Amino acid sequence: MTRISMTVDGSTYSDEVEPRTLLVHYLRQQVGRTGTVVGCDTSNCGACTVLLDGRSVKSCTVLAVQADGHEVTTVEGLATDGRLHPVQQAFHECHALQCGYCTPGMIMASIDLLGSNPHPSEQEIREGLEGNLCRCTGYNNIVKAVQTAAAATSEAAAS
Ligand code: FES
Ligand code: FES
Repeated sequence: MTRISMTVDGSTYSDEVEPRTLLVHYLRQQVGRTGTVVGCDTSNCGACTVLLDGRSVKSCTVLAVQADGHEVTTVEGLATDGRLHPVQQAFHECHALQCGYCTPGMIMASIDLLGSNPHPSEQEIREGLEGNLCRCTGYNNIVKAVQTAAAATSEAAAS
C-alpha cells in the first residue's frame, strides 16, 4: 500500500491505496465521489473525466498515485453556494442529456475546452469533445450547451 494525499473538490484527502488503484476507483470508492462514473474502463468513453490541476483527464487512465500531491475537481465540486456552474446550467437549459451517464464527463471536458478556447466554433466543440461518447442525444444539444455556456461566460465577464 502507498499513502497518497490530494485535494478533491477543495478538500484534502490522505489515504492508503494499492499502487495499481485507478484514480476513478479511488474517487468513487474511497473519496465517495460517485458522480464520476465508469462507462468503459478502456479509455474510450470519457464518462470518467475529471480535472487534474485544471486539465481534463480520463480518470480511468490515471493511477491514483499519479494524482498524489495534485488537485482534482469532479462534477460534484462545480456548484458554488447552491448555484450551478455555467456549464452545468447550460446543459440543464439546453436539455443536453437524456440518460445522463455521459454528462459528468461531458461537463468536465467542456470546462477544459472553454478554458483553453472561450469562443469555440461548432467544429471546435465537436472536435474538443470527440473523446467523450454519448449514446443518447446525438450531440446537437451538447454542442448548443457549450455554445450557451461560452456566451453566458463572456456576458458575465463583460458586466
Ligand atoms: S470509463 Fe474512462 S474513458 Fe470510459
Ligand atoms: S445522455 Fe445518455 S449517454 Fe449521453
